[in-house]
Amino acid sequence: MSTAMKPTLRGEEYRSPAIYDADLEGVFHRRWCYVGRSERLAHVGDRLVVDVGAESVLVLRNRDGDLQAYYNVCRHRGSQLCDASGSGFGAAITCPYHAWSYSLDGELVATPNVAKEELDRMAFPLHRVAVESWQGMLFVSLANDPPPLVDWLAESSDEILSFERLQLDRLRLGRLETSTVAANWKILVENYAECLHCPQVHPELVEIIPLHQQGDVIDEGRDDGGAWLAEGANSFTADGTAPLPVIATMTPGDERSYLSAFVYPNLFVDITGTSVILTRLIPRGPARTDYEIEYLFEPSAVESDDFDPSAVCDFSNLVMAQDNAVCERTQRGVSSRSFDRGMFAARDSLCWDFTQQYLADLAAES
Ligand code: FES
Ligand SMILES: [Fe+2]
Repeated sequence: MSTAMKPTLRGEEYRSPAIYDADLEGVFHRRWCYVGRSERLAHVGDRLVVDVGAESVLVLRNRDGDLQAYYNVCRHRGSQLCDASGSGFGAAITCPYHAWSYSLDGELVATPNVAKEELDRMAFPLHRVAVESWQGMLFVSLANDPPPLVDWLAESSDEILSFERLQLDRLRLGRLETSTVAANWKILVENYAECLHCPQVHPELVEIIPLHQQGDVIDEGRDDGGAWLAEGANSFTADGTAPLPVIATMTPGDERSYLSAFVYPNLFVDITGTSVILTRLIPRGPARTDYEIEYLFEPSAVESDDFDPSAVCDFSNLVMAQDNAVCERTQRGVSSRSFDRGMFAARDSLCWDFTQQYLADLAAES
């Protein structure tokens, strides 16, 4: 390997079940992980059931309007409590097995057919998980004593805090989609972090983000990490336009830009003039990752009778399908015993940064 190149992770780090388990323990069970938009918990009792690493977590809005998160596990005999996200109709959480109930603050409040004297209910609340919101985006941490979320965001991502100026909390969820890809989550992150593949893999995308035609991700002429969209473009669509209003908080420069951020370990943020796309990675196995994609728009767009985000969603799905295909191809390749390590070029530097963070997390765990 020439001295300018830097090594990727080892092949087994992309394919080994044991290392996958270590990833969950060292990264997903320790770090703040993105779980979804807080507007999905609009009403008292609404719930979000999310997988964080190997754990199922229940996020709820309580009677005071505050968000709470718990392990989704009954204190009686361990049954999982809630199966799916949605409205809780303001009611307590009742276990489907023996109908023990918990308040929205996690207290055990009813134990049918088990006399009150048999147990001290106050001693068996649901196990609590840290949850915090930033700009309408919910993160949970399974760590015992996580740092404040905003400190972590500052440390984990160069760009994300600068998006505060866009007031992402006022945007509305217009579409929610899911996808699955037969590749390790780290391959997806590395693919997101570089654009050397863009000219070859994304012929449509490079039409609207000309910087990517050269495989660059950072516009050297800008200090905000953004890239100019093609002349006349303001949307993440095939022709760069959409029947959607521009996000009201954007400057004329923001409107004509593609802004993006990766928040370690599991969130991609992609912003153009008319949409914000939040992609959450959900690792499922050494060679499988699910995505949940939240499409956000200006509130007036989502509220309008003729709201139609399909131009944005179709284009995003096209680009994602192209990315998924090369990630699956890479997963098949790195699963070969002939693959020891690959290499990162200078313009893959964000991939290198990611792998160093990842290795540090694994070392801290062991
Ligand atoms: S396991 Fe939940 S009530 Fe029995
Ligand atoms: Fe790509």
